Amino acid sequence: MNRIVINADLGEQVISRHVFGHFAEHLGRCIYGGIWVGEDSPIPNVRGIRSDVVGALRAIRIPVLRWPGGCFADEYHWTDGIGPRAKRPSMVNTHWGGVVEDNSFGTHEYLDLCDQLGCEPYICGNVGSGTVREMQQWVEYLTAPAGPMADRRRAHGRPDPWKIAFWGVGNESWGCGGRMRADYYADLYRRHACYLRNFGDNRLFRIACGPSGGDTAWTEVLMREAGRHMDGLSVHHYSRFPPPQRQTATVFDEAGWIGILKLALRTEEIIASHKAVMDRYDPARRVAIIFDEWGAWWEVEPGTNPRFLYQQNTLRDAMVAAVSLDIFARHCDRVRMANLAQTDNVLQAVVLTEGEKMLLTPTYHVFDMFQVHQDATLLPLDLRCDTYTLGEVAVPTLSATASRDGSGARKVHLSLSNLDPNTPADVECVIRGRKLSGVSGRVLTAKDMNAHNTFDAPDAVRPTRFDGAKLSGENLAVALPPKSIVVLELVSP
Ligand code: AHR
Repeated sequence: MNRIVINADLGEQVISRHVFGHFAEHLGRCIYGGIWVGEDSPIPNVRGIRSDVVGALRAIRIPVLRWPGGCFADEYHWTDGIGPRAKRPSMVNTHWGGVVEDNSFGTHEYLDLCDQLGCEPYICGNVGSGTVREMQQWVEYLTAPAGPMADRRRAHGRPDPWKIAFWGVGNESWGCGGRMRADYYADLYRRHACYLRNFGDNRLFRIACGPSGGDTAWTEVLMREAGRHMDGLSVHHYSRFPPPQRQTATVFDEAGWIGILKLALRTEEIIASHKAVMDRYDPARRVAIIFDEWGAWWEVEPGTNPRFLYQQNTLRDAMVAAVSLDIFARHCDRVRMANLAQTDNVLQAVVLTEGEKMLLTPTYHVFDMFQVHQDATLLPLDLRCDTYTLGEVAVPTLSATASRDGSGARKVHLSLSNLDPNTPADVECVIRGRKLSGVSGRVLTAKDMNAHNTFDAPDAVRPTRFDGAKLSGENLAVALPPKSIVVLELVSP
């Protein structure tokens, strides 16, 4: 039996729009080709940034974009990416295929991209191979109204300082960002954070490098030694099969479907375990969890560079996105940002490009449908549901989030996913505390688990109108097709 009770008049926590954030790294074709094509490109662009991708991301109200990495961040030296492009030095991108990075996309181009997108920047600074001075001066260059760094910025065509809040102090410092031990990094974090100044009226939101997956020992040390100096702690978790089971995004069986959903659902226990540690040091929940890398990670598409991490994206990825976003929403009292890896052409992208062509992936459509939860109030929701089982693996059949519109439009939104790829799910919902007069919705589903969009058939998977919800007083009956993601809008008289 599938039953949901929602208290529409309760709810205190807001689901931050930043939970629907993205991440773009200098990796494969994410920046070069996917975002930056240069001013002379025949691909329509504004100051070198491709307009189709900007349009697509604006349509899902991208709230924040993390840059320049990832592993790349800890070998990136920002001064290489400012000034006349022809004079910028090159470097070898050692993490991602040893390709030559010519630094034509740097600080000014990134912030122009954020302006075009209407989103907030989130910069990750270099701790692994950089210096405290280098990071300090980057912040000064970006945000100081006056002084030597501001003069330098002005000389490069930007008189006014930018507003930058989100600042990461290193990436995966336990791994590609320097292979550090937690105590060592905690000290380094404190040292860097000390010199990350607030210039003028800019206020930094300092984010420490957090654990990989469920490594609570790292969180313990960071919270104990540096918790009071940080505003956020990052967490990374990828849904990825261990080596012998690796598969591409599109070729898999039902074990591959349920297996990856099980891994995505681990996000819940990972967050809960870090919250338990953080609550001991920070019971007021001042320090946010910034879940700044997540998503499904497959073998690359055949024939592509293994270090470019280019993968297709199917209905299975869409389901990973839906259950993950539901989990982030449930924990919005601590999780105040999340960034899908990565925006385009890398890992679980929302957009794929090929030359001048662009397509929207099934994951894109989940972000589109779920945008109704951005900055909305999370409604308490009691969910009882059947279990979907395959062999030894079992997951809940349903995943859901309910929220109340923040705009005063008096709308309730309910996202509801049926994880079972074979069986429809009838769901009885009771919505208490608000008179409702109408329901409408959209559904994302397909005949096959591996349905996906291609450049020849870009609309094979896209949301359509959903007529499977019937409202009667406070009762809502929903007939979910197998492997479907539905978002309902409930209006009041
Ligand atoms: O997103 C790809 C890589 O995964 C990032 O560069 C790194 O932070 C993580 O290991």
